[in-house]
Amino acid sequence: MAEPKATIVPVDPATPDPAVLARLGAALRAGALVAFPTETVYGLGADATNPAAVAGIFAAKDRPSSDPLIVHLADLAQLPAVTGRTLAELPPAVARLAAACWPGPLTLILPRGPAIPASVAAGLATVGVRLPAHPVARALIQAAGVPVAAPSANRFGHTSPTTAQHVFADLGERIPWIIDGGPSLVGVESTILDVTQSPPRVLRPGGISVEVLGAALGEPVAFQERAAVADDAAQAPGMLLSHYAPRARLLVFDGDDVAATWARAIAEAHELAAQGQRVGALAPDDLAADFAAAGAVAVARLGALTDPAAVARHLFAALRQLDDAGVDSIVTGSFARAGLGLAVRDRLWRAAGGVVIPVEDATEREA
Ligand code: TXA
Ligand code: MG
Repeated sequence: MAEPKATIVPVDPATPDPAVLARLGAALRAGALVAFPTETVYGLGADATNPAAVAGIFAAKDRPSSDPLIVHLADLAQLPAVTGRTLAELPPAVARLAAACWPGPLTLILPRGPAIPASVAAGLATVGVRLPAHPVARALIQAAGVPVAAPSANRFGHTSPTTAQHVFADLGERIPWIIDGGPSLVGVESTILDVTQSPPRVLRPGGISVEVLGAALGEPVAFQERAAVADDAAQAPGMLLSHYAPRARLLVFDGDDVAATWARAIAEAHELAAQGQRVGALAPDDLAADFAAAGAVAVARLGALTDPAAVARHLFAALRQLDDAGVDSIVTGSFARAGLGLAVRDRLWRAAGGVVIPVEDATEREA
């Protein structure tokens, strides 16, 4: 952690300069940490086969060693090196999902091969594997010539970064290189699917919807919304409630009547503003003016309520924007349980510390 301030290296997101990526790929292979764009969020990369480099990731993020990392590949040819098995020796779902969803925002939980140190996977016999779609990520991993372990490039527990500037704000003093390939277009992390279970089970909803996974597999995947899960052990390790937490108090109004949750959120903004609080709002575009009229001093627009992919793309930057505005409280409403809406709901629920306010009974308000 005696590294100097990070150098931000801009590249063209679609056609990155091969000479630049060759240099940074060599740095990765030599053991350095390199933050890079992916289609979901920015990752903090290290050579997944090098225990010292992997230890650097945990140190830079202040991440507990009990929270396993995802290993990123440039192509399917690297799969045997990471899992110790050929595609034919892996569960049959893997080939189907790889054909339908890779490269893309899907992480598969697979057996961990001997080339991947236990520390990558927090000692588990499995490893999360993803083949990202972003041209810069793929070219970097290709240039490195090794599988790349990469968590989201934020301080542990903080909001995931969707720009190089977000990475710099969290880790600029701790890592040498940040590749700037512009904003991440998915905006929430990959969907994590455990294919060692039958039927395969979603451990974290993310950039690929459960509907798309079910269609690729020809059978529905198992998914239980986190709020309805009593047993935390049933979820992916490391999925702590304190994740994505903004500094401000976040109030999420939730309920099946989505319109009613937004009406309640606007009323709450009004009430808190009247009490003298600086109120921020995470608002769909068509309700932004209502939140401003209610007295919110900062309104972060998420896109249309009917477009959960847009909401996902804007969510993390919006949380950072409201924190930067120095608000006391952030209010928001409910998103539909479909498509990327599941990922949005999960991240909001987590950012609120696992406490949402049911609109039917909004009198209880745990901080
Ligand atoms: O989109 C993404 O997945 C981003 C980009 C950079 O690829 N990465 C990311 O990594 O979100 P991270 O470290 O922030 O989240 C990884 C999570 C862990 O916290 C854990 O919940 C789960 O993936 N995970 C990793 N390996 C696992 C394993 N072997 N079994 C179960 N869960 C695992
Ligand atoms: Mg993360």
